[in-house]
Parts: sequence; structure tokens; C-alpha cells
Amino acid sequence: MNDFKYNTFTLSKKKKRRHESRKRSKTIEEIVSFVKEKSNILLKSKFYIELKEGIKYQFLPPHRPNIVDIVAYGIGSIQDSNISQYQFALLLIFKNIFQITGRIYAFDPKLTQIDIEALNYFEVELIKTNEKAKRSIINQTLFFMPHCPLGLYNNLIKSNWDINKLENIIIFGNRLKFYEEIMTKATLDRKAPHLIIVIQQQIHRPITRIMMIIKKT
Ligand SMILES: C[S@@+](CC[C@H](N)C(=O)[O-])C[C@H]1O[C@@H](n2cnc3c(N)ncnc32)[C@H](O)[C@@H]1O
Repeated sequence: MNDFKYNTFTLSKKKKRRHESRKRSKTIEEIVSFVKEKSNILLKSKFYIELKEGIKYQFLPPHRPNIVDIVAYGIGSIQDSNISQYQFALLLIFKNIFQITGRIYAFDPKLTQIDIEALNYFEVELIKTNEKAKRSIINQTLFFMPHCPLGLYNNLIKSNWDINKLENIIIFGNRLKFYEEIMTKATLDRKAPHLIIVIQQQIHRPITRIMMIIKKT
């Protein structure tokens, strides 16, 4: 997370409007085909082989119990973003890797109507309210949270602040140590008091590199 940068550029207002309308004109069929295309690219990549191996030896039985549900926050708009299409494709791949027996749920305030249709198409259930990641788990749950705001990670951990619950959660997201590297302890204490305890106790296994690979594709 700390050794890559978002590419920023400025568009004129006219170009921006044209850009927006081009983005918006995508149909559900196009979105579905974009996601399938990204999925094929990922499945053929070295990244996928490494990811699958890493997951197999850390996060699948007999190393830990089966994941039941996946909850995805902060993927962004699949309609508008190439990166979101990759991340959504990876989310669907996770369904197979983890052989989940429950459901996939998703929420991002940026989801458009077409995004919601895409969720339906791929049998991902839309979370209808902005729960700000304050979901208390009832099953073994994987939270798919690529590059989410710091507060969401903290809310999730706070809402499951019980060792029996924390043990049943996997968070696929930013490398948590990164926050310790870029923020003072006082800021972290104020903004993410629960997250900092998890960081300090080192009860996380960083996998941000994976998201960085997705960013670059
Ligand atoms: C930095 S962007 C990351 C987007 C995308 N995952 C990526 O890697 O490019 C953070 C995302 O978190 C989403 N977000 C903000 N608040 C949220 C909330 N309460 N629940 C779910 N997602 C949220 C934003 O809409 C945005 O899409």
C-alpha cells in the first residue's frame, strides 16, 4: 500500500461530462462480460496461483474452519471502474476458492443501478443500508474490503470485539501495519482505537500485495 500511488489527472468540465456519459452508457450485458473477462485474466495469472496457494495453507481447513459468508465493502462502482471490475471478479473467484456454503453480500455507496443488476446476475446480495461495516458476525465470515477507509476496518473490529468473534473473521484488505507506519500513535488511538490493538498484537497476516497487483493490472 505504501509503495504505490493512485494516478491522478484532471479533466476539463466538458471532457469530464463526456467521460461520465461514456461510463454510464454501459449496459448490464457489457458489465457482465467485463467481469467475466477480468475473471479469465485473473485465473490465468501467476498472481492467482500464488494467491490460491497462500489461501490454501493459511485460511482453508485444516488450518481454519470453512468460511460460510463473504461480505464485500468498498469495491466501488463496477460500472465505472476497471479496478472495481477486477476486484469484483476476484470476489467471485473467492467464492470458489473458499467453497463458501452461505452467501456473498456487498455494499458500496457508489453502487449504481447497473451495478446492482450485476450483483443480482452474479448472485451477490445487496446490503440495502449503509451499515458502515458495523456488522456483527454470526458465521465464519470473510470481509472483502480492498482499500477501504480506515474507519470501516475499525468499525468492523469494534462490532466484533469478542475473541470468539474475532477468531471467526478474515479481513481481505489493506496491510494494517501501513497505518502504523504513516500515522502517529495519537492519531491512530483517536481514529481507530480497536484497529490499533489488533495491529499491535500482530494478530493479522498482511496480504496487501495482492491488492497492489490488482491495482496495476
Ligand atoms: C479508496 S476507495 C477504494 C475503491 C476500490 N476498492 C479500489 O481499490 O479502487 C474506498 C471505497 O470505499 C467505499 N466506501 C466508503 N464508505 C463506505 C461504507 N460505509 N460502506 C462500504 N463502502 C464504503 C467508497 O465508496 C469507495 O468505493
